This record gives sequence, structure tokens and C-alpha cells, in this order.
Amino acid sequence: MSLDMYSEIILDHFKNPHNFGKIEKYDGRALDYNPACGDEITIFIKVKDGKVSDVKFEGRGCAISQASASMLTDAIKGMKVSDVSKLDEKFVTDLLGVEISPMRLKCALLSLGVAKQAVIKAK
Ligand code: FES
Repeated sequence: MSLDMYSEIILDHFKNPHNFGKIEKYDGRALDYNPACGDEITIFIKVKDGKVSDVKFEGRGCAISQASASMLTDAIKGMKVSDVSKLDEKFVTDLLGVEISPMRLKCALLSLGVAKQAVIKAK
């Protein structure tokens, strides 16, 4: 797939984010922001039988930060919480599918850090 196609996918997630919203009766919730720009992500998680049974996010910020939250929440739905804790940087950059510059890496990884915190809080 060409780089342009991947960028289209990122823009589509940015414009039409998946899992956007809040869960009222969540098991874990976490919030973090990128100090460089102030953009933020909140993730709500519900856990059942050791797995992420539902996940939603709210946030505002650049296309990379919001698209990665949209893609990541899709990816972790149904995943074991123990596996969410082990996800690394490569998992997110593979989801995004584009070269991420060091400057943009913080944008891309914001949601991963928040998802891990939300999972810890849900335990
Ligand atoms: Fe703020 Fe990307 S510029 S998270």
C-alpha cells in the first residue's frame, strides 16, 4: 500500500474516529496529554473475564494522536488486559503504517500510554 493510502486511512480515522465517546460505568479511566502541545486523550475501559470488553476515548489534538487512539481502541477491544500492558511502540507505528518522525512519535504514542494506565486502573 502506498504512503498516500496510509495517510488517507489516518485522515479517515481522524475525521471519523472509531470508539469516540465515554463509557459511564467504566472499570478504568485514564487521561494524559502531550506537554509539547497540550493535546489530550482520555480512555475508558470495561473489563470482563480478563479481557477488554469495551473501550472508548475522548480527546483533541493532531491527526496522528487522534487517529492512533481510534486505531488502538479498535485493536485492543477483545484483547487480554495482560497483553495490552505488553504492547510496544512498534505495535502503534505498525497500526499507523507510516514512518513517524521523532517529533511525531509522542503524538502517536500518547494513546498507548493512556490505554496502559486505564488497564492498570481497571484491575
Ligand atoms: Fe499534539 Fe500531536 S501535535 S499530540
